[in-house]
Amino acid sequence: MTGVTVRVPAKLNLQLAVGPPRADGYHDLVTVFHAVSLFDEVTVVASDRDGVAVSGEGADRVPADGDNLALRAVAALRAVAPAGVADPAGVHVTIAKRIPVAAGLAGGSADAAAALVACNELWACGFSQQQLAEIGAKVGSDVSFALLGGTAVGRGRGEQLTPALAPATQYHWVLAFADGQLSTPEVYAALDRLRAAQAGGAAPSPSPARAGTAQPRAAQPRAAQSRAAKSPPPGLDAALMSALRSGDAALVGRTLSNDLQPAAVSLFPALRKTLAAGLELGALGALVAGSGPTCVFLASSADRALALAASLSGAGVCRSVARATGPVPGAVIVPSAK
Ligand code: C5P
Repeated sequence: MTGVTVRVPAKLNLQLAVGPPRADGYHDLVTVFHAVSLFDEVTVVASDRDGVAVSGEGADRVPADGDNLALRAVAALRAVAPAGVADPAGVHVTIAKRIPVAAGLAGGSADAAAALVACNELWACGFSQQQLAEIGAKVGSDVSFALLGGTAVGRGRGEQLTPALAPATQYHWVLAFADGQLSTPEVYAALDRLRAAQAGGAAPSPSPARAGTAQPRAAQPRAAQSRAAKSPPPGLDAALMSALRSGDAALVGRTLSNDLQPAAVSLFPALRKTLAAGLELGALGALVAGSGPTCVFLASSADRALALAASLSGAGVCRSVARATGPVPGAVIVPSAK
């Protein structure tokens, strides 16, 4: 076998309910994941040592060393690969990116999921999707969903999944990519601070930033942590689940929600204008994707999505736009051209 290529989708969160910070620095979530037709392609070939090359959207911002999530996934799989099934020597990973980096669309987790599926095939490990999900959960909270795809409820860190039973409705999305990035840990920390401030005794908030580096949980004031810890546990939105069961895009549009949105907007205030513009232009619903800064809009049809994308692009409220449909399957092997 020369190489294996896997295609893997971006994810949206149709609901993202965030609980208080846990002792390990993560937050318990209840989320409704939804995979959309914006794909990265990851190819692995046997090599004498591990390496990665990244091309496409935001490639220069993807680490090309051991911090790369796809390479970390390769190492995690190698560590548990059954002895003798294959030679889990080095692999060269090539990532062709269309999912923007640090955009709230789980592109890094998607690449890790794709690398797991590709190496599972290359090395003939024979792991099931569930086993790969358990290996991948250690690499990133969204890896399990990138393997599964479709629409699914996520709990815990987001890695405990239940597929959502819903009719085969195809939803039409417009994604507005921002001119900048947001760091996921910083957005979670900003949410904790906002909640602490609401609960009384505002903790000072950092100045708005367009991009940033991870802020360790320990850097948060202890009082802010304990006040944030008083926020209620997250719950699944029955109205959204009922809207999904009905397959009615207008209802789904009205029930989209994201607890991280105020935090993302506080760090990236320009998003407020982008969200408002999409709604004014007739979107059925609008929200920040995950920890942002991508904004997502639901349209009633493919034609409406096309018109909305063109108008948003002309309004100058984002760097670029893309259209996508969902739900789509998770990571799949691309048959090799013979
Ligand atoms: O798991 P992943 O590496 O994608 O998470 C990135 C960061 O996002 C974590 O280090 C944590 O700060 C934050 N996070 C969280 N709660 C989650 C998922 C992520 O606080 N459920």
